[in-house]
Amino acid sequence: MSSTEDMISAMHDGLAEVKTETGPKIPVPETYLKATKHHLKDVQEYLDWYKKSLESPNDFWSEKAKEMLSWHQLWTGKTLEYNFDVRKGKVYSEWFKGGKLNACYNALDRHVENGHGSQVAYYCEGNDLVDDHRTVTYAQMLDQVKRLASALKKRGVRKGDVVAIYLPNIPELPISMLACARIGAIHNVVFGGFSAEALAGRILDAQCRVLITCDGVMRGNKVIELKALADAAEELVYERGDGHLVDRQIVFKRLGDKCPVGMKPKRDEWWHETLAKAEPECPVEWMDAEDPLFVLYTSGSTGKPKGLVHTTAGYILYAAITHKYAFNYQENDVFFCTADCGWITGHSYVVYGPLLNRATSVIFEGVPTHPDSSRLWQICDKYKVNQMYTAPTLIRSLMRAGDKYVTKIPRNSLRVLGTVGEPINPEAWNWFFNVGGDKCCPVVDTWWQTETGGHMIIPPPVRGFQMKPGAASLPFFGIEPVVLNEKGEELSKPCEGFLCIKRSWPGIHRTVLNDHARMEQVYFSTFKGYYMSGDGCRVDEDGYYWLTGRVDDVINVSGHRIGTAEVESSLVSHPYVAEAAVVPMPHDIKGQGIYAYVTLRDGFEPSEELRKELRQTVRVEIGAIATPDVIHWAPALPKTRSGKIMRRILRKIAEKGTHVSSEELGDITTLAEPQVVAQLIELYGK
Ligand code: WT7
Repeated sequence: MSSTEDMISAMHDGLAEVKTETGPKIPVPETYLKATKHHLKDVQEYLDWYKKSLESPNDFWSEKAKEMLSWHQLWTGKTLEYNFDVRKGKVYSEWFKGGKLNACYNALDRHVENGHGSQVAYYCEGNDLVDDHRTVTYAQMLDQVKRLASALKKRGVRKGDVVAIYLPNIPELPISMLACARIGAIHNVVFGGFSAEALAGRILDAQCRVLITCDGVMRGNKVIELKALADAAEELVYERGDGHLVDRQIVFKRLGDKCPVGMKPKRDEWWHETLAKAEPECPVEWMDAEDPLFVLYTSGSTGKPKGLVHTTAGYILYAAITHKYAFNYQENDVFFCTADCGWITGHSYVVYGPLLNRATSVIFEGVPTHPDSSRLWQICDKYKVNQMYTAPTLIRSLMRAGDKYVTKIPRNSLRVLGTVGEPINPEAWNWFFNVGGDKCCPVVDTWWQTETGGHMIIPPPVRGFQMKPGAASLPFFGIEPVVLNEKGEELSKPCEGFLCIKRSWPGIHRTVLNDHARMEQVYFSTFKGYYMSGDGCRVDEDGYYWLTGRVDDVINVSGHRIGTAEVESSLVSHPYVAEAAVVPMPHDIKGQGIYAYVTLRDGFEPSEELRKELRQTVRVEIGAIATPDVIHWAPALPKTRSGKIMRRILRKIAEKGTHVSSEELGDITTLAEPQVVAQLIELYGK
């Protein structure tokens, strides 16, 4: 974690880009209010529920847990017990402790048992526009899940084991997740865009022995050979794993002849062969409410990515309730979340939330701009999508492509538009609302994190609610946000400061895999008694929350979190590099880009070729999304006398270049060598 000084300066950098006046208010559109049914009558009802959720949390959450989930056995003890204060002992949250249930049973079995087996669970849209789609019903999902689950069991996977999943965004990904959940195994999904190196790190950290992958996947016109990457990862695991190895690989055939693969005898098996032979029935493992459901790795400001652990009951309840109310999802609606299941957005809003609510969803494997920028809207039309949930970065790129890609598609079915991943700039918000949704759809800007499991702050799409472009707006049921100043004092509105959460909610992650101390250190040590989000925010006179960006050394590239430390260590792994410092830079489409200052070892000279090589190094070690946008050759880095890199200065130069003023640079007299700053400015763009 960066110093408080750095956090404050990052917070103010963020705030500078956010308008501080209250801004225009746009009522939730009447056309939408008339076009569909509503779970909540109006904004007053939303606020009443919110009040109840804070005043009587036990009643509120036990009612919801009984209403929305099927329990094998109800919890006998308290609905909730938790401690957020490290001074009082271990930080923990326990929801519905002692209750027994199963996430897969709730997502699939109970719907099929209730006669909904023939309902479509997923419309699967492939990479290609024509002839590349499938439909999977709830009954078909369940059949595949049971077969895979019994195959996993037969291969020795037991309750509590971690299974790695490295697949593209196809229904086999949710099928794999649910097969794990069915038998009490913990799924560890690794985004298909990550490198072999990143996959190996996650397999090793979680000690996975089974990996589920596929031969390859098309991204636009490119073939990505996932199996080859998985093989490379397994080599790395074997080399580093102290005897640990992946002894089973189940390979789904996605591309076939287009992507020939080598199968290693005894280790590798084809998904279709295995499932055809597998026992078609597989009993559900009844899990304790607090048994882990999955681990998902995410980057922080220091060290390696952390494996965040989510548990069963709290997480699924929270995914289901947020999906239902934030999008006003109604029976028979078609829901479309554009995220990949490799991220938390996909876990909560492609898989668990929608399936728990027996929704019909679209799962999209391809690229939103392939073959052109109409693609998402075409998908909306093809499947009559009612709610589309996407990211500001995508909205900005579609906006740039031009309105004609949108307006030529009717889009009549759309009711609600959602966004997530980073603060949405008002310009993109307005375009999404006016052009994308024809002023007929509320825009639901959802603030949350991998750590939170589901939405935390949303503009509720209800009658009478006034939207403000760019504001995530109001806390969801049960969420008690507070804004703290640098001394850790709670501020009252209007105010700006660090966004923290004051009490536990069902979706909070419970720990970092094998490292509970790290969880306490990262989230609960800066401000005692609070969960620290790592984001800065402002609350306006009306009590609306405006997120202003990360206050730590985490870069938000296209809504994905990249840890500066990871990129730095990858750059430094190159033999010519002595030192590297990575900071965010503003980027029109991606929101933030990656700006790397690199100091070479004595005797090595900067060159374009070396730049390419360094970018390639990061690409191979982490993945394409972490590739630096800029490499700035730095003879030296600005450091304090105690040797700490002054990132505040590096951020300013990355943002302003040669136009940076001395006020913007702030006090540089504490630097060991103040002349370094002038040198860096001089070398900007060179
Ligand atoms: C970070 C979490 C949650 C799924 C996507 C990313 C930023 C996310 C918003 C929003 C402003 C947002 C925050 C947060 N963020 N949504 N609506 N407005 N900022 O998950 O990788 O865990 O990243 O994304 O900075 O801390 P993640």
